[in-house]
Amino acid sequence: SLARPNTVLARAGFTSGFGVLAATLGSAVGLGNIWKFPYLTGANGGASFLLVYVLATLLVGLPVMMAEISLGRVGKANPISTLQALAPKGQPWWLIGVAGMLGAFLILSFYSEVVAWVFAYVVKAMRGSILSSDPQVTGAAFNALISDPMQSLLWQWGVLLFIGGILLMGVTKGIEAVTKKLMPILFLLLLLLCAVSLSLDKAWEGLVFLFHPDFSKITASVVLTAMGLAFFKLSIGMGTMMTYGSYFRDDQNIPLTTLRVMAADLSISMLAGIAIFPAVFTFGFAPTAGPSLVFITIPAVFSQIPMGQSLMVVFFVLAAIAATGAMLSLMEVPVVILHERLGLTRPKATLLTIFLLVILGSTSALSNSTLADFKLFGMTPFDLFDFVSSNIILPGGGIFIALFVGWVWGFDKFGGALTNKGHLQNQKVAQAVFFLLRYVSPALILVVMLKGLNLF
Ligand code: PHE
Repeated sequence: SLARPNTVLARAGFTSGFGVLAATLGSAVGLGNIWKFPYLTGANGGASFLLVYVLATLLVGLPVMMAEISLGRVGKANPISTLQALAPKGQPWWLIGVAGMLGAFLILSFYSEVVAWVFAYVVKAMRGSILSSDPQVTGAAFNALISDPMQSLLWQWGVLLFIGGILLMGVTKGIEAVTKKLMPILFLLLLLLCAVSLSLDKAWEGLVFLFHPDFSKITASVVLTAMGLAFFKLSIGMGTMMTYGSYFRDDQNIPLTTLRVMAADLSISMLAGIAIFPAVFTFGFAPTAGPSLVFITIPAVFSQIPMGQSLMVVFFVLAAIAATGAMLSLMEVPVVILHERLGLTRPKATLLTIFLLVILGSTSALSNSTLADFKLFGMTPFDLFDFVSSNIILPGGGIFIALFVGWVWGFDKFGGALTNKGHLQNQKVAQAVFFLLRYVSPALILVVMLKGLNLF
């Protein structure tokens, strides 16, 4: 049914402007900043990658995010129902919502495993077993964890039950409140880490790597990776922001909120880069290490600070909290769809989501052990889910969302959402963003995807 479901009222927790900002930022900020951004930047040439990533965020990420939030706020329901209600009868735009739900499952299946590593590192940090500036030692500790099938599975199940438990209790507001208090601490800790990292011997080399572009490193696949990261970072292309938009108040300034979230999210990624790359170069790690980068460099940085062990515990706890906010927003998509579309109660929808994730997620959890040799398209399930979601599903969803707003929903409705029906002075912004959505973003995304996937 397209009627506003009562559960929306029950979790309509975005009561203040700051609450909206915190919740939206809580979704955007996650392991994408602390884990994915550093390792992708390291593996794809540093500054030149960063530049393409920022461009993708501005030209594609920003307009698509405003589009999604606007659609959600006007539709006031899950993404499938929203698109069904806003599209002309008989046009299948609601399939974007279905694809988004599948995307959520794929992302959650590997994301929950990285969160599992973070949780495990909280315990390891408490024991002090991984505090060393020797890459051999920190690398071996990480490999021991990820190549142990039992540990990988149990930590992941623990994470799924933890997040599911929060969703079952329906305490989005509680999480919001907690995240609101803890995000500033994460910010401060990152600043502290940056200060330590910048005082290291070869800090300069790290900064040059991060900020001095080498354009010869930019290939079509690097551009696709950067664009995929922009989608992943802003939680767009799969209905998360549409869902959150449905909780926005009608007087919320959508362009301003989007800009603030984008700026804060970008700053946190940059701080993570400044914290990590000087250490990478000083201690002789390879910047191209891939997904293990953060897990082997962070312990090395902390081994250089007084009280490093306690601070490292705090760091991983905060990383876990950041990840929790992002995971809740990811799981909210299938939960709300199963609940509102299939008529399952919210607890049942949550349990079904957890159950499906235990099964699908186990293939990611075992990708470094039991299933290490099980490859599809030359990738382990973990790598495949990561690749397909960021490089195909999210940008693909972005194309259709942009096309829908630009060519079907139209300027009057979109402009109405960005200006709150003329109450805000956002007309110029609305015109520019609409132009991007109608002509620039879809074509740009399509070309980058086809080139990056080597399809023409
Ligand atoms: N933006 C989150 C992060 O950076 C991940 C995410 C992607 C969350 C898509 C929701 C939807 O960690």
